[in-house]
Amino acid sequence: MPEANQTPTPSVKNLLSTPASNQPVVLNAWVRTRRDSKNLVFLALSDGSCFSTIQAVIDKEQGSWDEKLLAKVNTGAGIQVQGSLTVSPGSGQTVEIQATGISLHGEAPQESYPLQKKRHSFEFLREIAHLRPRTNTFGAVARVRNAMSFAIHRFFQERGFFYVHTPIITGVDAEGAGQMFRVTTLPSENPPRKEGSTDFSRDFFGRPTYLAVTGQLEAEAYALSMGRVYTFGPTFRAENSNTTRHLAEFWMIEPEVAFCDINCNMDLAEDFLKFIISTVLEECREDMAFFNQWIQKGIIDVLKEVVTKKFARVSYTEAMKELEKAQGSGSASFDFPVQWGSDLQSEHEKFLTETVYKGPVIVTDYPKEIKAFYMKQNGDGKTVRAMDVLVPRLGEIIGGSEREADLSKLEARMDELGMHKEDYRWYLELRKYGSVPHSGFGLGFERLIQYITGMQNIRDVIPFPRTVKSAEF
Ligand code: 4AD
Ligand code: MG
Repeated sequence: MPEANQTPTPSVKNLLSTPASNQPVVLNAWVRTRRDSKNLVFLALSDGSCFSTIQAVIDKEQGSWDEKLLAKVNTGAGIQVQGSLTVSPGSGQTVEIQATGISLHGEAPQESYPLQKKRHSFEFLREIAHLRPRTNTFGAVARVRNAMSFAIHRFFQERGFFYVHTPIITGVDAEGAGQMFRVTTLPSENPPRKEGSTDFSRDFFGRPTYLAVTGQLEAEAYALSMGRVYTFGPTFRAENSNTTRHLAEFWMIEPEVAFCDINCNMDLAEDFLKFIISTVLEECREDMAFFNQWIQKGIIDVLKEVVTKKFARVSYTEAMKELEKAQGSGSASFDFPVQWGSDLQSEHEKFLTETVYKGPVIVTDYPKEIKAFYMKQNGDGKTVRAMDVLVPRLGEIIGGSEREADLSKLEARMDELGMHKEDYRWYLELRKYGSVPHSGFGLGFERLIQYITGMQNIRDVIPFPRTVKSAEF
């Protein structure tokens, strides 16, 4: 095994952008493929630094080669190549490595290595989530995910937002949907009981606690003192939704802005999405070219248009009218009823984004019954200042609202919903002391990655997905 280098050796990405100089080079990488012709061995080498592989050529007639070692230089092996960077006579690359020596870090026995040179289904690759980042698709997803994470921080930092870390363990059901994972150290067999139910006063925190479904409520506390803040962290939902858009553990970006109404919130969401999309188009050209060709044909042009066009903005009521019109005229038929008051189902969201508005749509002013307690109530007594951003193929990727800043209205709504106001003491105090208008939203990070890459299943845009009945790795 070669010694680990003291100074980092160049990456494949570095080498591919270096002019051929015949200078000596050393590269550490994994073998993607090997092709043999008479005296030559061609290796395609990858180290994850970029989409492309670099070719290394071994001329068995030049120098002396250890045949036993060479036999182990196969798909999946981790190797070091020494050689020189030369002009590549082949098409598709400008430079290649003319190898003078090879050492083996670790072989990958061919009879058992699962990633052979053929197309594997995404379902199969999910079972080997520890090896799938070595494939073209998952390498590309990981690089895009990385570029997006950085761009998210850049967007907010350049606009004066502060990054706040909200807790992951919480005592409140902030979305009021009750889909939370319990956090407890009580024994699962025979937990202490009191008056017929588990006695959580004897639990670690002395109360029931859960994994957070959102960081919003805590972000509001910071927005109401620092003006503009955002969170970007893991979020947990015990939803029993076995779909291509739901994870039990996903990442959410939640900006929260003081002195900002729903219009300002919509502008922020639109600018934000456009910034992230433009950045990926600019910075991940090679990876996006791959998605464009193999995963979602034409996605680059679609995204370029999204960046330049203004998003449609409609109220829930207007959106409902569009759906009713389509159903009435027979141009669409839906499985779920189109009825004012019921939530938009994915078939409705699909129809609105793909057929009616042909692009992202921001839907506002939903019926209060289908939205969370904290949303600002409209004067009509029926709707709230919610705003969801819907996109083609996926439906909702952002959910947000202006927040109810009026203490009495907020309390009245909580009473209506039968919520325990005592649990929200601190949240209510934000309305008691120096309450100001404020708004925010939550973007599902994985859904945005799906939207940008065209990847169909949310399980394939997060390294190690957690979903119903699945938490291996
Ligand atoms: O619409 P949601 O539930 O909104 C909130 O949690 C608010 N507290 C956000 C806020 O105003 N600060 O979730 C926001 C987004 C959704 O639009 C969706 O993109 C994503 O989070 N999301 C999920 N992504 C993957 N798997 C799930 N199970 C998700 N549930 C929500
Ligand atoms: Mg939502």
